[in-house]
Amino acid sequence: MNIIAISGALRKASSNTGLLRALQAIAPDGVTIDIATLHGIPLYDGDDEAASGKPQAVKDLDARIRAADGVIIATPEYNFSIPGVLKNATDWLSRGGSPLKWKRVGILGAADGPLGTGRAQYHLRQNLQGLEAITMPKPEFFAGHNSTKFDSEGNLFDEDSKRRLEKWLHAFIDWIVKKP
Ligand SMILES: Cc1cc2nc3c(=O)[nH]c(=O)nc-3n(C[C@H](O)[C@H](O)[C@H](O)COP(=O)(O)O)c2cc1C
Repeated sequence: MNIIAISGALRKASSNTGLLRALQAIAPDGVTIDIATLHGIPLYDGDDEAASGKPQAVKDLDARIRAADGVIIATPEYNFSIPGVLKNATDWLSRGGSPLKWKRVGILGAADGPLGTGRAQYHLRQNLQGLEAITMPKPEFFAGHNSTKFDSEGNLFDEDSKRRLEKWLHAFIDWIVKKP
């Protein structure tokens, strides 16, 4: 099984990208998790699209999503919603046929605040509905107070979060395989 894991954060020491690395480390045999970032995706502009179509960075991400059995998105929370870079990426992806149509998508996130991206995750679910994705309803995964769980390079060290993450990943894989 091949899963693409997209980080909604651009910074190198991102705790959200760190969550995806933690998932890679615990992936069971037969499951590969490829991390994708949103670097290089320009701001959506209808004039640029009319002149040159989708930028290469969007085409690449589109192809990786289409080739995957499942998609994981780790989103930070910016001002009670998803970061602009993530929304911008979904806007580009939605153009000319969504690669997320009927794709199984798992959402998680890490944030500084106590809710651990709860508000952002619900905005992302709504946004992905527009791209016809199928999002896993449960279990959910929130990592709040991320400075107590991730080191300065964004690596997850909190053992309880690692255990919850492992349960979450197994539930996600099951949900893809069984297609309930
Ligand atoms: C513009 C901006 C807005 C933010 N808004 C929120 C917020 O609404 N809720 C929250 O819990 N944290 C908020 N934060 C703090 C982020 O949770 C924190 O920076 C987090 O580490 C970002 O994710 P990352 O580690 O993957 O970069 C905000 C940070 C930025 C830069």
